[in-house]
Amino acid sequence: MSAYQKEYQLAQTAPEVFWKQQADKIAWFKFPQTILSQDEQGIDRWFADGELNTAYLALDHHVEQGRGDQTALIYDSPVTGQKARYTYRVLRDQVAKTAGMLADLGVSKGDRVVIYMPMIPEAAMAMLACARLGAIHSVVFGGFAPNELAVRIEDAEPKVIMTASCGVEINKVLPYKPLVDQAIMDSRWKPDHVVVHQRKQCLADLNQERDKDWSALLRTATPHDCVPVLATDPLYILYTSGTTGKPKGVVRDNGGHAVAMNYSMSTIYDVEPGDVYWAASDVGWVVGHSYIVYAPLIYGCTTIMYEGKPVRTPDPGAFWRVCQEYGVKALFSAPTAFRAIKKEDPEGEHLKQYPMPSLKTIFMAGERLDPPTLEWVQSKTGRPVVDHWWQTETGWAIAGNPIGLENFAVKPGSATKPIPGYLVEVLNEVGEPQKASEQGYIAIRRPLPPGCLPTVWRNHDRFESGYLSQFPGYYISGDGGYIDEDGYLFVMGRIDDVINVAGHRLSTGEMEEVVGGHEAVAECAVIGIHDDLKGQLPLGLVVLKDGYVSEGGVIENELLQKVRQEIGAVACFKRALIVDRLPKTRSGKILRRVIRQIADGEQYVVPSTIDDPSSLQEIERVLE
Ligand code: COA
Ligand code: AMP
Repeated sequence: MSAYQKEYQLAQTAPEVFWKQQADKIAWFKFPQTILSQDEQGIDRWFADGELNTAYLALDHHVEQGRGDQTALIYDSPVTGQKARYTYRVLRDQVAKTAGMLADLGVSKGDRVVIYMPMIPEAAMAMLACARLGAIHSVVFGGFAPNELAVRIEDAEPKVIMTASCGVEINKVLPYKPLVDQAIMDSRWKPDHVVVHQRKQCLADLNQERDKDWSALLRTATPHDCVPVLATDPLYILYTSGTTGKPKGVVRDNGGHAVAMNYSMSTIYDVEPGDVYWAASDVGWVVGHSYIVYAPLIYGCTTIMYEGKPVRTPDPGAFWRVCQEYGVKALFSAPTAFRAIKKEDPEGEHLKQYPMPSLKTIFMAGERLDPPTLEWVQSKTGRPVVDHWWQTETGWAIAGNPIGLENFAVKPGSATKPIPGYLVEVLNEVGEPQKASEQGYIAIRRPLPPGCLPTVWRNHDRFESGYLSQFPGYYISGDGGYIDEDGYLFVMGRIDDVINVAGHRLSTGEMEEVVGGHEAVAECAVIGIHDDLKGQLPLGLVVLKDGYVSEGGVIENELLQKVRQEIGAVACFKRALIVDRLPKTRSGKILRRVIRQIADGEQYVVPSTIDDPSSLQEIERVLE
């Protein structure tokens, strides 16, 4: 039996034995006696009576074990021309002081802190400082507009918001403070304090009583110790798009998360403590939480915070330059980043300048890895490429090529095999397992392994109804696909209203709410259509109220601006088309799937339930 089969089987047949072995590999304050139990809501919980501190695992423990002088974090910012290195000791000390600063502002265990920051080391310090105090952070991606930030502030009810004066996007300086002020104005919940890290590219006005200057506070702060928390206490809330306008607050606990992060580094990424590991993502996304901050540090690697893009900062050699300069062993990003590089450097001329002797493997996730991109990256870099599938909800990969255990032959388009701990099945509409190669709902049999969400923040019903109740005994992923005869998993796309734009998860339902909120709009549908670079792009089809006409595209433009202002530039909502009517079923359901097929130029079958078949001709006409 291979190492993979052994681990997979043990995790399946004796999960408590398997995960106890993994739990043994991290430094608990109190080792759990209970490995798997159920909470009062009937949800499986890992290590319920264990005590630990995630920041301790990520920093102090390594210093105590003699890793203090190793670089923990490298900051590389082509957009500002800055570079910096922090050893484990220095990072621990800075985080301890940042925690002291937060404690002085009244933050303690269980309190929430919203972090709205660009890709600078202070963002990671803020996260780890919260973890040190047992406070719960909620990082909001910098590309989201004030309205999105306000929704999250209202739901998380933070005592403090930590931000920076600005972000830098290629060559645009984007002031953050006015966005935070606007969000607080729009939110019913008001934080006690807003702590601002001033960047020299743009200084923020600290003109409200609640505003505090980060570095001034830090000067007088005293280092704070790690506060022990229960394994089941929340480490963070990360909001993600669902099918409705209101994002879901995915809750991550401390103990299961730390164990899963540690396990994944050897099993999936095949790295060792001391290696340089680079996830080219953003701390605002789950990839950034798990693989820029927590996993590499818990495991004793050197992590990189890169404030730049794969292209234009300054050229499509940017990723390879970083890999070469810092001796990166594992590189992880979204397929869209490599498509952007491929578009600007199809022959790999930039790549040739960087031999990257340390680079062993390239990992991709966030969206389906299309075979041409896989093939291009593999052939140009000469490195194996691992596609792995996961979600904000799970926090780590559900399926992938577990090269630390066994290197499976790659099948293009497949995320390879389920990772030990995940019992992945494909079910039909009534919850019965599908035969090999038959498509269906991808579900995970419960209990979910450590690290996966135990609930939705202050909305447990949404967790039950959105993920658990459809098929009893299973967690439903929201993705569709199939498992082939060899046990390879193929994830084909979402079965709900979530789309993936440049590796960013967005809700078309939410965009529809914003578009539908325009006074001229009677009804609308937003669908995700294929895009060669970004994977998908949203397209709005809009029916106007009687009496409204859009002259010279005025209303269309207003709609684009509205989505940009209310959701953010990151939504990439750049196309809205006005139609007389939307194709619907007789029961009134908009035929989004058919619209998408028409837009993507695919063959489609006119559904027998369609109300008015001529409505499809109109869609064909406007999309021509
Ligand atoms: N703060 C403020 N604005 C941001 C932002 C941030 N952190 N991130 C993106 N934006 C803005 C961009 O400036 C852009 O604005 P514009 O419409 O005014 O030009 C808009 O949001 C869309 O951004 P993006 O989708 O990133 O497009 P892009 O053309 O700037 O870059 C890629 C395209 C493919 C290079 C880029 O999306 C990328 O590197 N993706 C990597 C994927 C990734 O990190 N995924 C995370 C999961 S692994
Ligand atoms: P997020 O929660 O932002 O990480 O997005 C999760 C969603 O992205 C998944 O439900 C999938 O739809 C998609 N996704 C992520 N990784 C992959 C992958 N390797 N293959 C196919 N889809 C993916």
